[in-house]
Amino acid sequence: MKVLILGVNGFIGSHLSERILRDTDWEVYGMDLGKDKIGAVLGNERFRYVEGDIAINKEWIEYHIKKCDVVLPLVAIATPKTYVENPLGVFELDFEENLRIIRQCVKYHKRVIFPSTSEVYAMCGDERFDEYGSKLVLGPINKERWIYSCSKQLLDRVIWAYGQRGDLDFTLIRPFNWIGPRLDSLETAKEGSSRVVTQFIASLVYNEPIVLVDGGLQSRSFTYIDDGIDAVMKIIDNAGGRATGQIFNLGNPENNCTIKDLAHRLLDMFVHHSAYAAYNRHPEIIVQSASSFYGESYQDIQTRVPSIENARKLLGWKPKVGLDDALRFTLDSFLREIGWRDARIGAQG
Ligand code: UGA
Repeated sequence: MKVLILGVNGFIGSHLSERILRDTDWEVYGMDLGKDKIGAVLGNERFRYVEGDIAINKEWIEYHIKKCDVVLPLVAIATPKTYVENPLGVFELDFEENLRIIRQCVKYHKRVIFPSTSEVYAMCGDERFDEYGSKLVLGPINKERWIYSCSKQLLDRVIWAYGQRGDLDFTLIRPFNWIGPRLDSLETAKEGSSRVVTQFIASLVYNEPIVLVDGGLQSRSFTYIDDGIDAVMKIIDNAGGRATGQIFNLGNPENNCTIKDLAHRLLDMFVHHSAYAAYNRHPEIIVQSASSFYGESYQDIQTRVPSIENARKLLGWKPKVGLDDALRFTLDSFLREIGWRDARIGAQG
């Protein structure tokens, strides 16, 4: 099987490539702006990488959609800070550029696995979000945070409509706060635009206070990347066509925790880490209002727990990695990545 991954150097793309090359005889064709996260697979003869931009290198993409069996268009802006700082950029990349890819999948009769998002449920009040039953509840237009959710939702609906018309073999996946090595980067966290786990790890490493937005009582269901990739592998494999035309929440309801609890768990792991001796300060946790952290056009999601019945029933999938292990593996990987050098500088500075 030939798998096309656009955004191959991203968090999901890089882990997925490693897994495919480790466990199957499939070939991966990947495009991205850079290659810093895919060092482990670059030399593999079943991995073809090209540096490129989906908004520019359109011919390469069209040629490879024709050539491959399944397409994963993973290119998207997925950090909330960017939703409020650059809402049009989010629409252009997450919706417009991806719509063209979807239409080419229709044109060439290619299977597409599209990354929708847990954010489509937005402020839904259900205890557990259900793919086919829950309402998708967005805030007002002046709360620009919702442009991401709205862009993804509209593309979900377009894909669904092509599928209903019999023109597209698709699966929609909805990752729920996947975490793990290579989630964003400590560099983007320095600018405050990483997702929360990387943001908190960066704060610990660089001796900045951990910021709990509005007190951190909002919760998320954190899911370890390896569990998510297990599900995506089953979906690509698509045994018996069971994933075709389906939407799957891919999250770990057992790992639901408040952001405040998350901060304390990470801080505790950090101060008990063997390398912590390099530090001479105790990290601090502070509270900041959402409007001062993100700006006035941000609005938060208070709870987000997936129902994963559909994935269990049709894919035989369920996540295995508990929250503390998921956090420890993620923390360890970032600490290994910086080799503690930067951290020590931060500690003395
Ligand atoms: C994320 C992103 O939109 C996408 O990555 C994705 O589609 C989806 O959710 C997902 O991963 O399932 P969100 O969970 O709100 O949205 O993003 P984070 O930046 O990880 O924030 C989580 C929570 O932590 C929010 O309530 C935020 O206000 C809070 N937070 C964030 C803090 O308290 N402090 C920080 O420094 C950063």
